[in-house]
Amino acid sequence: MSGKFISFEGPDGAGKTSVMRQIKADLEEQFGADRVMYTREPGGNHISEQIRRVLFNADNTDMDARTEALLFAAARRQHIVSEILPALQEDKVILCDRYVDSSIAYQGAGRHLGEQEIWQLNQFAIDGLLPELTVYLDVPSEVGLRRIAEHRSDQVNRLDKEKLAFHHLVRHSFLRLQQAHPDRIKLVDASQPLAKVVADVKQVINARYPELFN
Ligand SMILES: Nc1ncnc2c1ncn2[C@@H]1O[C@H](COP(=O)(O)OP(=O)(O)OP(=O)(O)O)[C@@H](O)[C@H]1O
Ligand SMILES: [Mg+2]
Repeated sequence: MSGKFISFEGPDGAGKTSVMRQIKADLEEQFGADRVMYTREPGGNHISEQIRRVLFNADNTDMDARTEALLFAAARRQHIVSEILPALQEDKVILCDRYVDSSIAYQGAGRHLGEQEIWQLNQFAIDGLLPELTVYLDVPSEVGLRRIAEHRSDQVNRLDKEKLAFHHLVRHSFLRLQQAHPDRIKLVDASQPLAKVVADVKQVINARYPELFN
């Protein structure tokens, strides 16, 4: 396998999707659209899409938090087999919007299921497949939540305390992960203007893969 597997992580409103859109466009310009794959979990293939419908069905209000964690891991597994592994074999650059670190931060820390427990649960799903590079976009919780609130015209500048506490738990879990895996996970200050964040992300990618953004 010779492709490149890069995941993008960060709390809500960090700018993952915005940054990835530009990174994807620039890589496609350099290498051609068939060499670059943007993907996100859960979904992307017919089995994971069915799991996604169960996860996001508003009628499933009684879903247990561990059931939810298992379903995310199941969707992740199928996403790996149906999409990531074939793309790696085709020598593509894979830009993955969230991967296993998000489960640890959101379900392990945010939903109090335990970071170690969620890590172990996901070992079975990922079967050793970790990205070679994880770009962690770090933003203070107030900034991330404000960006999202400002996007919704009905709730401008109103930060819900519960959301803020949850966001703090998630962010600090990501920061712990980055400190525990400094070779894989590279932190970028995502509170900067978008153009600067994109420039910093390109530098991080170039440091890992000198042939990209050279
Ligand atoms: N560096 C930045 N400075 C200011 N605003 C930004 C920046 N990056 C993104 N935004 C804005 O913040 C909002 C959230 O950005 P985006 O959707 O890219 O975040 P995300 O990390 O993908 O969030 P989610 O986890 O909810 O998918 C958007 O309105 C976007 O335009
Ligand atoms: Mg997004």
